[in-house]
Amino acid sequence: MPSLAHLLARNRAWSHQVRSAAPDFFQRLIAQQNPKYLWIGCSDSRVPANEIVDLLPGELFVHRNVANIVVHTDLNCLSVLQYAVDVLNVEHVIVVGHYGCGGVRAAHHGRPLGLIDTWLRHVQDVSERHAAFLASLPDEATVLDRLCELNVIEQVLHVARTPIVRDAWARGQLLALHGWIYGIADGLVNDLGFEANGPAKLASDYAAALAAITHPDRPCVGHAHADPAHVTCDPPRSGHP
Ligand code: CO
Repeated sequence: MPSLAHLLARNRAWSHQVRSAAPDFFQRLIAQQNPKYLWIGCSDSRVPANEIVDLLPGELFVHRNVANIVVHTDLNCLSVLQYAVDVLNVEHVIVVGHYGCGGVRAAHHGRPLGLIDTWLRHVQDVSERHAAFLASLPDEATVLDRLCELNVIEQVLHVARTPIVRDAWARGQLLALHGWIYGIADGLVNDLGFEANGPAKLASDYAAALAAITHPDRPCVGHAHADPAHVTCDPPRSGHP
């Protein structure tokens, strides 16, 4: 069996490096964690939560699963959400999808892979909810990019509809939900424009976010295009020249 000594060596070096920069860093973390953010992202090894937003240990509460899905019966995800909202009092919950998501691609293709098929069924639900829009798109790469984005929007809505979040909003707790998408190709996060701060505008904010994603003049973002001008559309809804 291959040894993992190289990983332990890297850990020692990392710990030493952190303590060199801030000798009391780990001592301060012992006392408590006080993160302001809960990140719900994909398990994909190319989407490391803390690194992407340059946050230190203690600053980001994290839940990751394949294709960043929030299911109303998933006790794992819901426990993370409940602890983050009720105990840690995080101020933001961010659902972070990413372009090139293997889970979304597998859901789209529908080829049997095993137990994961049941999990990815939730992405297929998203796909079927937006079937007419997705069928209107010119190629598969675009379909997959838009499906990655739509999946984020739907999962933010799922977070908003949990009793955990509804109760927090009902008691006046400040809690904002966000939908982001990460580009593996450029390392950039883009806000998909769905910020939910309470129940009052939830439906209209959701509809506006969907309208932005499905707008016919929306610039091409996500997968690489032959035309380099298409790769650098930022922000996503700024309009193409
Ligand atoms: Co993924």
